[in-house]
Amino acid sequence: MSTRVRFEPSGFETEIQAPVDLIDVTDEHPDADVPYSCRSASCGTCRVEVVSGGEALAPPDEDEVDVLEIFGDEGPVRLCCQLKLAKDTDKLELRVVDPY
Ligand code: FES
Repeated sequence: MSTRVRFEPSGFETEIQAPVDLIDVTDEHPDADVPYSCRSASCGTCRVEVVSGGEALAPPDEDEVDVLEIFGDEGPVRLCCQLKLAKDTDKLELRVVDPY
């Protein structure tokens, strides 16, 4: 089994297999167009809204929760640099919160 992952607003899609870190997926596929800066749960640049498939993601650790609280986004927002797909699901869709 594998998971179809889609990134917005780039519209890039690919197949991935759990367990996998999303940062490795986006490093391999720059067309996904997720912005990073610190890559270690402190700047919030890589915030993505989890549009679908969130149940297949590993829960956020304390550092990630702290950063997300600072930004206070509405909805299910996560740090893409910390995201791990823990199990496969039909579809995972992530939307970059601040694309530019
Ligand atoms: S790149 Fe800084 S929090 Fe993810």
